Amino acid sequence: MLNGLKGAALAAALALSPLALGLAVPAAQAAEGSVAIPDARFQHDRMLGTFDRGALQRGFQVYKEVCSACHAAHLLSYRNLRDIGLSEAEVAAIAASYQIPDGPNDNGEMFERPGRASDRFRRPFANDAAARAANNGALPPDLSVIAKARPGGGNYIHALLVGYEDPPPAGITVMEGMHYNKYFPGHQIAMAPPLNSDGQVQYGDGTRATVDQMARDVTTFLAWAAEPELETRRAMGIRIILFLIVLGGLTYAVKRKIWADVH
Ligand code: HEC
Repeated sequence: MLNGLKGAALAAALALSPLALGLAVPAAQAAEGSVAIPDARFQHDRMLGTFDRGALQRGFQVYKEVCSACHAAHLLSYRNLRDIGLSEAEVAAIAASYQIPDGPNDNGEMFERPGRASDRFRRPFANDAAARAANNGALPPDLSVIAKARPGGGNYIHALLVGYEDPPPAGITVMEGMHYNKYFPGHQIAMAPPLNSDGQVQYGDGTRATVDQMARDVTTFLAWAAEPELETRRAMGIRIILFLIVLGGLTYAVKRKIWADVH
């Protein structure tokens, strides 16, 4: 029985380690064949960290005004924007500002109508072929889960957005229609620098829209898009740890009581 209790204590100690609960976030790792990715020190990458609400809303603005010209984010619906702190009226207004393809109607024709909160984000192109045709043959990937789909995650996306060099380093020739980027594997990317001048967007909250600030904000937005349940998961982790501490204390008290007369 003593061994059993020891085993239980060990199991509880193991479970208490934040690693066991998956609370720790893997550090930035370099994608193969590219330079090491700097740690951008995002608040949400810290243990038990939450998303910066201001950055999420500014990041959505950057996505909407810049990235959404080429990149879809088809897993997101307008109503999901409630989670980043937008009001129901704001969400309805954003949705209504898009024309969403729908149909067929009674005549068998497809048509467009103003968006509703329940609609998915409108795609910039009708299909992949149209997207490639508009981008020199390169396909702009869907950004819904890109923050999870690339080694280095948000740190990589931030580095990519600020990692352009024009002219490229001496001795490197960039192919026609390509751009030199320090962090893109192979260093030649078909995406022209999307964030290229300070003040490219006008932030409503007075934050200065430097290239680095816009890159950080849109990366925070994309990290949320890829894992909107991150904050709930971490809050649950804390509750589980507290529960285990209380349970551990109780178990120990019971053990002492049961063994009191034996010693
Ligand atoms: C003018 C069109 C255009 C705009 C605007 C644009 N992109 Fe891209 N993006 C592309 C294309 C094309 C690619 C594919 C590049 C390639 O494979 O060489 C790409 C690729 C990417 C990738 C994937 C890189 C990789 O590792 O494969 C990310 C991440 C990305 N873009 C983020 C953004 C963000 C964030 C914005 C807004 C700030 C943005 N893009 C704006 C066209 C665009």
